[in-house]
Amino acid sequence: MMAVRQEKLEALLNETRLFAPSEKFRHGANAGDPAIYQKADADLTGFWAEEALRLDWFKRWDEVLEWNSPWVKWFNGGQLNAAYNCVDRHAASLRRNKVAIIWEGEPGDARLLTYGMLQREVNRFANALKSLGVKKGDRVAIYLGMVPELAIAMLACAKIGALHSVVFGGFSAEALRDRINDAQAKVLVTADGAWRRGNVVPLKANADEALKETPSIEKVVVVNRVGRSGRAPVPMVAGRDVWWDGIIADAPVECAAEPMEAEDTLFILYTSGTTGKPKGVVHTTGGYLVGTSTTHRYIFDLKEDDVYWCTADIGWVTGHSYIVYGPLANGATTLMYEGTPDFPDRGRMWGIVEKYGVNVFYTAPTAIRSMMRWGTEWPAQHDLSSLRLLGTVGEPINPEAWMWYHENVGHTQCPIVDTWWQTETGMILISPLPGLTATKPGSATRPFPGVQVDILDEDGNSVGPGAGGNLVLTKPWPAMLRTIYGDPERFVRQYWSRYPGKYLTGDGAKVDNDGYLWLMGRVDDVMNVAGHRISTYEVESALVDHPSVAEAAVIGKTHDVKGQAISAFVTLKEGAQMSEALKEELKQHVAKKIGAIARPDDIFFTAELPKTRSAKIMRRLLRDIAEGRALGDTTTLADPTVIAQLRDQYESEGDAD
Ligand code: WTA
Repeated sequence: MMAVRQEKLEALLNETRLFAPSEKFRHGANAGDPAIYQKADADLTGFWAEEALRLDWFKRWDEVLEWNSPWVKWFNGGQLNAAYNCVDRHAASLRRNKVAIIWEGEPGDARLLTYGMLQREVNRFANALKSLGVKKGDRVAIYLGMVPELAIAMLACAKIGALHSVVFGGFSAEALRDRINDAQAKVLVTADGAWRRGNVVPLKANADEALKETPSIEKVVVVNRVGRSGRAPVPMVAGRDVWWDGIIADAPVECAAEPMEAEDTLFILYTSGTTGKPKGVVHTTGGYLVGTSTTHRYIFDLKEDDVYWCTADIGWVTGHSYIVYGPLANGATTLMYEGTPDFPDRGRMWGIVEKYGVNVFYTAPTAIRSMMRWGTEWPAQHDLSSLRLLGTVGEPINPEAWMWYHENVGHTQCPIVDTWWQTETGMILISPLPGLTATKPGSATRPFPGVQVDILDEDGNSVGPGAGGNLVLTKPWPAMLRTIYGDPERFVRQYWSRYPGKYLTGDGAKVDNDGYLWLMGRVDDVMNVAGHRISTYEVESALVDHPSVAEAAVIGKTHDVKGQAISAFVTLKEGAQMSEALKEELKQHVAKKIGAIARPDDIFFTAELPKTRSAKIMRRLLRDIAEGRALGDTTTLADPTVIAQLRDQYESEGDAD
């Protein structure tokens, strides 16, 4: 794997195209003075304290930072409420009638919620949650499509001090069940269904399946999203299930914000790690809100009258930080779109940009690569002149996609911010500042002010320009994860043990001679499929759960559009017949266990898997085979003939599908 990356990287490091911000952009930019970097480096706590003052605190903190690596406290002693900061304080200001959320439904229906309206909706639902017995510290699971109720439910939890755990609507019943059980959630908020390419995703049916084995759930709130159109009536369980509309109808519109400690947990968000069990990343209130709002303000150069659109799903961290908390804390107008980019046609995104006059647009490289495939005629059909800034997130962006975005969406007038971060980091850590940084296509450029990174070799030495290594973070930042829910040991082991005192990102990176950072993808067993994080072990566990499968090894294979596609090498149990039908069945099985996003693109049957003498499967070699490369180091294999046979068989059968 490193071999190809190496070649690709040589090309990248020779990138000479440089796009400097225009004078006009620099002059009006929220971050227009390069001294911001020196200032933050010289006085990290002073820098963040100043930013923190943009929020409303019920009680000022005693200490900005307490750092006993890996344990950290930001703004300790301070009290605030995230929903108050995102909603109430704006509703009490001149922003009362400003649109907080523009929501575009997939079928073409739309809703505009002003800050005043959002406040009433949040308060009603907060009171509804209370009436269902939810108290401060309780966990509420949220399994919804991209509807306004999703943001409302999150903010309602925050308002009363309950912790939300949003589970992406594309996850399966089993994935939902495991996440509910890990968090011991008391209430689940879901919908009768979600629209997706004109079809209904049966959220309530999935939830009902999950709820057979979730003893902690006492009540289920169901949003009526698809039922109004006469589709898919869902059964309601008496005593357990209540309709959203019903429960908020009589709920009071006043609800006091619960004063929360800065270090109180705001939410849990599950993400894939290097084992089969997803981990509940814990984010707290003060540092998270300071980190997300500050980065949102500077990196997206937010202006009071901007229409800002991040196309992520709120089920992932990007949606949490940059659709809901960051933008709303800043009093922005944030756009939510329910559906897919190709429904009813491939111009849908650009139609939305035109319809609402979107100014700042933030999406994933996968989406850009899909649009590249669809052709320039789609963006060309729409007036995109409102756009002034573009962003990307989730995976490395290849220079071709970057240039396409720059030319066909930004019409060469918009800076592009390539933002690197993770569920765990809570906020963007590496990105251009659009008024200051000259960008290079494919590079996330440099750390945000105050953020310190290093690139280390296996022995923990810093590597110089041009050499690859493990990306680590050496200084604390406000939105950093505090722990893994219920598993502090895993938190320490996973992130802080490889290089004590430094946070291990799991990403490979290089720095070029200009000091620009190039992110090279994961170096651990986490795949990045269309910007979604999936662990090889999760997919392997799902495969071996099938009665015909003896063993499975899963890799992320380079894919033109998705970045990576899932390939599985499977050995069958005695008596099981290899067949195309079985391949289909196995793919289906994985989709059922995890969700359609984890469905393997191809499955390859093999008699044996390459293993080390300590029986560790060598995925690296499987990746070499799948990507048609010369095999890397095979000296640690227990039986080198296995890999040679496997390669011959793979090549003779052609691409597995
Ligand atoms: C990858 C998403 C290159 C990276 C916010 C990271 C990126 C993982 C970029 C986190 C980027 C994210 N360039 N790679 N701009 N942004 N990644 O937790 O491998 O879903 O570790 O958070 O996505 O994925 P997660």
